[in-house]
Amino acid sequence: MKRIAILNGPNLDRLGKREPEIYGSTTLAGLEAKLTTDFADQAELTFFQSNHEGALVDHISALAEDGIQGIVINGAALTHTSVALRDALLGSQLRAVEVHISNIYRREEFRHKSLTGPACEGIITGLGLEGYSAAIRYLLLD
Ligand code: DQA
Repeated sequence: MKRIAILNGPNLDRLGKREPEIYGSTTLAGLEAKLTTDFADQAELTFFQSNHEGALVDHISALAEDGIQGIVINGAALTHTSVALRDALLGSQLRAVEVHISNIYRREEFRHKSLTGPACEGIITGLGLEGYSAAIRYLLLD
């Protein structure tokens, strides 16, 4: 069974409660349960969320040695600021897809720049929670 790691950054622990007009009303636990069910016969999914940059870097570093198929990452606000996260992704040599629930290009200008995007094979932005499923499906190809 292929293994895929789903990583979520700061404030996504409050998914479903935080700015629901932007991010919707599904909680992170709800999203994780749905993905686990939807991909039960195709992949083993692991989930990690942290509000701390270093914890995410540590997690990616551990995954690098773990023989997984790839990473789906929503770095949230760290997307726009974190050289450390970008370097961790590049250094891991793991396949990665970046996901944003909202369309970062339709929002404030400071969200238009992704520092982590160039460390990923692609970016899915603005498709809501569907973006996570699309990213997992992509990583399962081949
Ligand atoms: C986000 C977009 C980011 O700009 C923001 O800081 C988030 C969530 C998204 O999923 O749309 O926290 O990554």
